[in-house]
Amino acid sequence: MIINDTVLRSDWIVACKIEDVKEEPIQVVIMGERVVLFRNEQGIHAFKDLCIHRGAALSLGCVKDGNLVCPYHGWEYDSEGTCTSIPQLPEGKSIPLKAKAIKYTCRTEYGFVWINLENNNPEFFSFPEFNDSSYRNILWGPQEVNANPPRIVENFLDVGHLSFIHEGFLGVPEHPEIGDYDVHTDGGRIFSDEIVIYQPDPDGTGVAKDVYYTYEIVRPLSVRFTKRDPDTDNKMTILLTILPIAEGKSIAYGIMSFNYETGTSDQEIIDFQDMIFAQDKPIVENQKPEDLPLDLQVELSLKCDRMSIAYRKYLKSLGVTLGTE
Ligand code: FES
Ligand SMILES: [Fe+2]
Repeated sequence: MIINDTVLRSDWIVACKIEDVKEEPIQVVIMGERVVLFRNEQGIHAFKDLCIHRGAALSLGCVKDGNLVCPYHGWEYDSEGTCTSIPQLPEGKSIPLKAKAIKYTCRTEYGFVWINLENNNPEFFSFPEFNDSSYRNILWGPQEVNANPPRIVENFLDVGHLSFIHEGFLGVPEHPEIGDYDVHTDGGRIFSDEIVIYQPDPDGTGVAKDVYYTYEIVRPLSVRFTKRDPDTDNKMTILLTILPIAEGKSIAYGIMSFNYETGTSDQEIIDFQDMIFAQDKPIVENQKPEDLPLDLQVELSLKCDRMSIAYRKYLKSLGVTLGTE
């Protein structure tokens, strides 16, 4: 079961956009765990969505004076998860020490809220484009996918499908071949050489040309590529990050970053990406086995699948266990 995988549970997992956490608490399911997110003056906090009194979902409650209030009997929890008020207790009776909510470490970065279920505070990855003023950043998602994250991530790293699945958009059938490329590991980064892809309209100007794609594995659930136009040095980077909800169910989020004027609105860019993603969805939702085979003998790979192979090796080296192991 991928949702029990301790390597993935020990990482930062995207929960939602920062803007999704408003006045009212919300529930997000992360690797089978119900998590409540709420906001007060100190920021955004994440608890297990479970009141220790009678198991009510705290996300059905409200925030009052900065405390999360359980909907059932009104117990109040502060930012640390400590219960600060039990309305039913007669005056003078102290609150039991066990009255606590289970708190998860929570971070807001790159427009998203990230949760660490194991509270082991792992290192956070860097996405330099987001804080670079020469880039325009657009958040993308949520997009639900009925598949486990590694198949979705590998599809994003798969250069060979562009001229087929995305024919007329990201490739053309007359140019299906992929030149040889290598994958490098340097200072913890795993990235490909620039791969030449002939696209019918790579930047919205209507001119077909070769562009260069560089893929990079950032984390087990986060990957990115940069597409560069060699004539103008225009760059577009897309980060994809996956929230595993339950076995076989995920939500995809992303960031699209441009260092050039696209001539399109944020919504138009999001709609285009939704359309591209909709082309991939039936593929990844129907792949067998559902879990990526980490034994490289199980599927037949080509040289152009080097990035996928690197991803599988990376998961294996981290000790991620998938169903087929
Ligand atoms: S279940 Fe939460 S206060 Fe009773
Ligand atoms: Fe695709």
